[in-house]
Amino acid sequence: MKTDPEPSHLDKLPSNLKQDLDKNLCTCMDVPKRNIIDAIVKGAKTLDEVKKETYAATGAGCCIQQVERLIECLSESPPRKRRKRKNKVANPDS
Ligand code: FES
Repeated sequence: MKTDPEPSHLDKLPSNLKQDLDKNLCTCMDVPKRNIIDAIVKGAKTLDEVKKETYAATGAGCCIQQVERLIECLSESPPRKRRKRKNKVANPDS
């Protein structure tokens, strides 16, 4: 039996990640996005823990970034800060 993740947890996700909850996020292992969210909500806080709970991301690894994004959005810690790129200015004298 499927358990729905609590709506309050879904509120933490950007709208694009709330879509298609019953479609497979991990197509290699046939794991729906809902199951991955459920595992994270129940305590899987790392990629390895999500892999262990759901088998997601244990195939070719093509969904790893998406799983990590779900962990990041659903975890209590603030989101990672992205480093700003320094704009390289071409040296007009060279
Ligand atoms: S889609 Fe998840 S490991 Fe390939």
